[in-house]
Amino acid sequence: MPASPSSCSRSAIVTRLRDAGCVFAEDEARLLIAAARTPAELADMVDQRATGLPLEHVLRWAEFCGLRIAVEPRVFVPRRRSEFLVSEAVGLAREDAQRPRPVVVDLCCGSGAVGAALAAALGPVELHSVDIEPAAVRCARRNLVAAGGQVYEGDLYQPLPPTLRGRVDILVANAPYVPTQAIGLLPAEARVHEPPVTLDGGADGLDVLRRVIEAAPLWLALGGHLLVETSERQAPHAAEAVARSGLIPRVASSEELSATVVVGTRPAAVDR
Ligand SMILES: C[S@@+](CC[C@H](N)C(=O)[O-])C[C@H]1O[C@@H](n2cnc3c(N)ncnc32)[C@H](O)[C@@H]1O
Repeated sequence: MPASPSSCSRSAIVTRLRDAGCVFAEDEARLLIAAARTPAELADMVDQRATGLPLEHVLRWAEFCGLRIAVEPRVFVPRRRSEFLVSEAVGLAREDAQRPRPVVVDLCCGSGAVGAALAAALGPVELHSVDIEPAAVRCARRNLVAAGGQVYEGDLYQPLPPTLRGRVDILVANAPYVPTQAIGLLPAEARVHEPPVTLDGGADGLDVLRRVIEAAPLWLALGGHLLVETSERQAPHAAEAVARSGLIPRVASSEELSATVVVGTRPAAVDR
């Protein structure tokens, strides 16, 4: 049962959050009041939020594609813009009705949000998710139990079973893609509370993504698709890397979500 806000009144919480710079103080107060089980827990949660911990880390969940995704402190909070990556992947998976239980791989899965949303949208999938951070792997395991997803800890493709080679229908990666120099410009919630490994993509932001793209043809099935999230500025460079790897590149973007996705499709077999 939610804690009664009487000892720490709703308006006092709103004021505290607003003074701490929370733009949506009313909404946040409502969520914190609903989540806390005791007045002491509520006071503690308000303190955490007022000192800058991201709301999702205080609540221990984030909303993504209409799902409630568990997130622990120091695990990347899934962003609304990544819902575009999901919708593009769902569209491509549905185009290929011959695959009743598509094989989906989510590299750099973080909390597992992207894979969970794909499984929820597509129905039965064979889902494999990978992250290098133990906290993220723990979270992803919790979030992917219902979908029967396998979660591996390690560097990109390295922990995946070799039997997946040439079988992956949808390969998604929302990898770190912030250029190192730009990390200092991020809001404190990301800069302070999300570890560099979740954000830092090297000098131009594409270091991890280039490795994802380079090895993708080895894992994709014929006609399978790689989808990676990038910034708008990075997209042409990522698309060049996709073409160099032998995949057919395409760039998709959503103005509404300020999101860019680079798609690479492995050509289907040619009839001789
Ligand atoms: C930007 S976050 C995205 C998380 C998740 N895909 C999402 O959209 O919420 C990037 C994730 O990549 C993971 N990561 C970074 N380098 C990695 C690597 N070499 N292999 C596997 N995971 C990696 C980080 O731990 C982090 O969880």
